[in-house]
Amino acid sequence: MSKIKFMFESSNIPLEMHKVRIVQKLNLLSVEDRLDAIDKAGNNTFLLRNNDVFLDMLTDSGVNAMSDNQLAAMMRADDSYAGSATFERLEKAVQKMFHKEFYLPAHQGRACENIIAQTFVKEGDITPMNYHFTTTKAHIVANGGTVVELIKDEGVIVESVLPFKGDMDIEKLESLFKQGTKIAFNRIEVGTNLIGGQPVSLKNMKEVAAVCKKYGVMNLLDASLLADNLYFIKIREEEYKDATIEEITKEISDCFDVIYFSGRKLGCARGGGIITSNKEFYDRMKNLVPLYEGFITYGGMSVREMEAMAIGLEETMDMDMISQGPQFIEYMVNELQKHDVPVVTPSGGLGCHLNAMEFVKHIPQDQFPSASLGSALYLISGIRGMERGTLSEEKNEDGSEHFANMELLRLALPRRVFTLSQVKYAIDRIKWLYDNRELIGGLRLYEEPEVMRFFLGKLEPVSSWQDKLVAKFKEDFGDSL
Ligand code: F0G
Repeated sequence: MSKIKFMFESSNIPLEMHKVRIVQKLNLLSVEDRLDAIDKAGNNTFLLRNNDVFLDMLTDSGVNAMSDNQLAAMMRADDSYAGSATFERLEKAVQKMFHKEFYLPAHQGRACENIIAQTFVKEGDITPMNYHFTTTKAHIVANGGTVVELIKDEGVIVESVLPFKGDMDIEKLESLFKQGTKIAFNRIEVGTNLIGGQPVSLKNMKEVAAVCKKYGVMNLLDASLLADNLYFIKIREEEYKDATIEEITKEISDCFDVIYFSGRKLGCARGGGIITSNKEFYDRMKNLVPLYEGFITYGGMSVREMEAMAIGLEETMDMDMISQGPQFIEYMVNELQKHDVPVVTPSGGLGCHLNAMEFVKHIPQDQFPSASLGSALYLISGIRGMERGTLSEEKNEDGSEHFANMELLRLALPRRVFTLSQVKYAIDRIKWLYDNRELIGGLRLYEEPEVMRFFLGKLEPVSSWQDKLVAKFKEDFGDSL
């Protein structure tokens, strides 16, 4: 985050501290073809073909831009099944970053969750966490455990000024521990994904760690979104404004017994892993790596990705690198707010989150407002976001809908991928959609998988609202794409 002042801009705009050297051509279909594409995808943005998408804001997972040094490192990968030098380099990078001794490689974040849940979660166990993530919860539940969310009440208030909405409620945590129920572990997710990429303060992590220590509970960190969280600690937490990113990372690491991450996010490559200094924990988890992932020196990852991840982790210590996402997101959030578009505030990491509960407040939750908004946005812009609302929830045991407490459409800004003019295009189309929000209608499921239905479920509009929206688009935009 270099300090660069503009002389003729009314407010500072985010400035890229990198240049683009490889490009990918984009495709923007006509609105008629977009209607056809979203219909074929069952109004589920996961099921769109990427060729039919203009700006892919589905996720930041595995699609962050890589650096020249990452690409260069890929060329020297040591492709051996066992004992690869590439693994040693990655292991060293992980150890240096987290100051912990043992690293278990895994092919992505949920693979780490599988190993952790199988090792530590037993039937009837409770796993408190600040907030759940979809795959995390699925693995814990699959092993007979239950997830209890102990985020502070303010964390789920969509519009707020609280700088660290991901913080855990310490009193709730302690009172849960006092009840003496069997706890598998406590989990903190930094850059808390499902509440809008909201950070956790280092102060809160230290308090959580102290309570876990007092009650002898293992403390686990999901560090997948650590890069954004590091930036926010540096910017928003007064006590750490002069600390280096390395120092902040070490202090975070010291709060946890076990850390895992998705390398599709942290380290801008494709992979993941589990880190600990606890030899007993390491030994218990170790044998599951060859069973589910691959040998202990590659864990299901390609060695080229491992080389890139090692460099990517090092680059995460650079403020220029980790500030890009949050600053672009902040710009997008601020511009949308000027037009009264309801968004999650304060702006977090990962992406800009539209508040569907407000944006389309006329759509009842059983008609999936976030998914409806996602379908409408694709239709009028070619932008694909991700539903993070009721469709992303698992249903109640009796088969009824479990309504999400937040209905969000996430517009991810993968790191260093989009230019400011592309972000401006997104803002322009979202503002137009907000002015025409009454035209957006609901969706109903016609194909519903039993678990994680947001990935593969198919929906149809409850009325002919999409035709009306297309007609209004053509009226206002004429022959523009
Ligand atoms: N933990 C968090 C906080 C995540 O955001 C993700 C993935 C995972 C774990 C699982 O990691 O995908 O490598 O298996 N989040 C992606 C997303 C899918 O789009 O937000 P994974």
